[in-house]
Amino acid sequence: MDDVAFQRILDCMALSWTGYRRVRKAVKRRISRRMTEIGAATVEDYLQIIRQDHAERETAGILLTVSISRFFRDRRMWEALGEMITGTDWRKRTSCMAWCAGCASGEEVYSLKILWEELSRATPLPPLDIVATDVNAALLERAGQGAYPPSSLREVDERSKQRYFTKTGGEFVILRDLTRGIHWTVHDFTTSPPPCNRCDLIFQRNNLLTYYDPSIVIPVLKGIAGVLRDGGLLIVGNNERLPAGDFPFKATLAYRSILRKEI
Ligand SMILES: C[S@@+](CC[C@H](N)C(=O)[O-])C[C@H]1O[C@@H](n2cnc3c(N)ncnc32)[C@H](O)[C@@H]1O
Repeated sequence: MDDVAFQRILDCMALSWTGYRRVRKAVKRRISRRMTEIGAATVEDYLQIIRQDHAERETAGILLTVSISRFFRDRRMWEALGEMITGTDWRKRTSCMAWCAGCASGEEVYSLKILWEELSRATPLPPLDIVATDVNAALLERAGQGAYPPSSLREVDERSKQRYFTKTGGEFVILRDLTRGIHWTVHDFTTSPPPCNRCDLIFQRNNLLTYYDPSIVIPVLKGIAGVLRDGGLLIVGNNERLPAGDFPFKATLAYRSILRKEI
């Protein structure tokens, strides 16, 4: 499949060519395999099918997602986030709420649990509930199992590896205690409203702003603004920027991908 054909599929799904440039080879392979399976001889045939058949369109959506993740991806962001949380008055609350949107196999979610646990050792924080969502049910299934290859933990220090994981058959398995308070939910942020209200933290990293067209990005960001508490934090990917628009998110000095809601 050439780039022009691939771009036509991305356009049809309201996805952004810029985001896919570096990962297009693998994604093209998945789409080409699916075209063969369903007997779509040309991209034109395939486009016609995904325009008419809702289930096949959903399958295309899954095949087009990129699920790369790892624990404490962008380590400096996590350090800055820890300092910001310590500086809030959240510890006076009875509970805190986070939404991890597009959480892949759970690496980001468990990183947040580990960070929370570490911060709570110094001064107790309220219990943290996390709604962890992804459009891909198979990834959430793996997330629930909490077992990871060593490569997923390359940004985790030795002490945390020993404290929060057990090693079984070459894999690192997250401690059962850390799985409490996580609600794994299949959810598509482009078609459904946010799955929780009054969030303190929303992670929307390395998916919406990288892979989606502005026609999708803007309403999703408005939905996020609606459920993030005033003073709550929106965390985007290290290389991601918000599009121009009237959003109540302000840059923080702590780190460029941590934004605070201010109204
Ligand atoms: C590249 S991974 C990022 C994982 C994690 N947030 C991180 O930064 O390491 C992107 C994830 O977003 C999910 N995703 C993409 N589009 C989505 C959508 N519309 N709704 C929910 N999840 C989506 C994909 O299935 C994939 O698991």
